[in-house]
Amino acid sequence: MFEISNLTLSVNNKELFNNLNLKINSGEIHVLMGKNGVGKSSIAKAIMGDNNYKVDGSIKYNGKEITKMSISDRAKEGIYLLNQSPIQVEGVTNAEMLRLALGEKTGKNVNIFEFSKELEKICQDLELDKSFIHREINVGCSGGERKKIELMHMWMLKPSMIILDEVDSGLDVDAIKLVGNSLKKYYELYKPTILIITHTASILNMFEHYKVHLLNNKGIILTKDESFAKEILDKGFKKILEEYDTFVISEN
Ligand SMILES: Nc1ncnc2c1ncn2[C@@H]1O[C@H](COP(=O)(O)OP(=O)(O)O)[C@@H](O)[C@H]1O
Ligand SMILES: [Mg+2]
Repeated sequence: MFEISNLTLSVNNKELFNNLNLKINSGEIHVLMGKNGVGKSSIAKAIMGDNNYKVDGSIKYNGKEITKMSISDRAKEGIYLLNQSPIQVEGVTNAEMLRLALGEKTGKNVNIFEFSKELEKICQDLELDKSFIHREINVGCSGGERKKIELMHMWMLKPSMIILDEVDSGLDVDAIKLVGNSLKKYYELYKPTILIITHTASILNMFEHYKVHLLNNKGIILTKDESFAKEILDKGFKKILEEYDTFVISEN
């Protein structure tokens, strides 16, 4: 289970949230929706342990408090973030990083033959040229290629919790389908816990059941089932937030 409790999150001395709470049972899919700049990517990066984001409170994964853990220890626990804007890592190839990470995760030497065979199969499924395996991570890659490379890493590392930060942004229609199908297949095979951040329905359409959380600058203010995503996308944040205010005022 993944659980954020009473979390205060700040970046650059600016407080984004002061009482964030979110509980996701293993294998569930939850969606975070909110206006640009509300702090969705900041939540994703704080969960991963990016030290630009100051947290106070608790983030637990499978019963372990992770707020003090390094990024690589969180990854070893099985948490994986598909970044909104994947960065370039010069001087390190995808194969080198993955061999190292897999070796650390399993505590065993990686069998090169099987490793290469699996990577080639993943590239084929993702319609990525095999040459990407030995290219430096994301260097000189297009936005779409970067997303596929992040998926390549996911398939190799087999995380038990995946955070998808606008994984569908910057992709053409064919790539959205391919990425969506790849994620769906991964979910059906491994039943990971998934936290999705999105502004479109394309990735959500791949999944049947999920919870949708609406964020404003106070934190999560409303949680409903999958039909809520469509409602938000149809009406827009402004209208939904106004309706929410009226609803809260009339309740009091
Ligand atoms: N590393 C950073 N340094 C300074 N400000 C940041 C940083 N990351 C996020 N912010 C600020 O925090 C706010 C939330 O950003 P972000 O989490 O990217 O929003 P969202 O993903 O919801 O669009 C924005 O005002 C953004 O400028
Ligand atoms: Mg963002």
